[in-house]
Amino acid sequence: MNTKTIAANWKMHHGPDEARDFLEKLLPNLSTRKKPRILLFPPAISLQTVSAGIEECAEIELGIQNIHWEVEGAFTGEHSAAMAVSVGVRFVLIGHSERRHLFRESDSEVKDKVSTAIAAGLNPVVCVGETREERVQGSTESVIKRQLDSVLAEISVQAPKDMLLAYEPVWAIGTGMLPEAHEIEEAHSLIRNRMREKIGQEASLSTQILYGGSVNANNSEDLLKLKNVDGLLIGGASLDPLSFSKIIESAVSV
Ligand code: 13P
Repeated sequence: MNTKTIAANWKMHHGPDEARDFLEKLLPNLSTRKKPRILLFPPAISLQTVSAGIEECAEIELGIQNIHWEVEGAFTGEHSAAMAVSVGVRFVLIGHSERRHLFRESDSEVKDKVSTAIAAGLNPVVCVGETREERVQGSTESVIKRQLDSVLAEISVQAPKDMLLAYEPVWAIGTGMLPEAHEIEEAHSLIRNRMREKIGQEASLSTQILYGGSVNANNSEDLLKLKNVDGLLIGGASLDPLSFSKIIESAVSV
């Protein structure tokens, strides 16, 4: 697990034109040295543009920000896992805090989406994390365990090789606030240990755990040096090709 993963969650930014422009600026900036694995999660409407743009670049893989838990049907505005696969998607964000909090997604929906993703051959990137209030109340550990357990119960027999976990404290997302280094290490080791208990040693060691929340080009190298931090999931700082390429560079040197 030496190769770190640097993932960009563009959220509702970068339509097809901006996505093309981003790649035109990013790709020449990538060093020819060994690169980390790079995952791009554009909005669904830009998936095909990004898919075409990264064809020649084996280190960059494509992800979708959300799928529906049903295979198909009358779900206006939604996308199925199979549709994502058909345009070259290999990863899917599930349980992102914005989905959980702004769109009221429950643990049960998160679990169902994980199952649907795996059945379609997509690798879930399962996001967990506590709110500010939950941390202040001292319930960080129980919240992370609750969010993890429902998903781990679902995948106990079929953990995909390339599944990822992401620890994203809700209060650190888009705020410029970072947890203390020891808080990140504690959360990541909690996630690693819980995976070992629920899905076994091998799957727990092969599942990368990303940190997300106010990552930028100035703090990425230090974050990547923390124990059990196998990569980063980046929002705001991934929108600018220059700052994103600096974060990618910082992963090469760790
Ligand atoms: P920011 O990097 O903008 O804090 O967002 C993090 C995030 O939500 C990535 O999924």
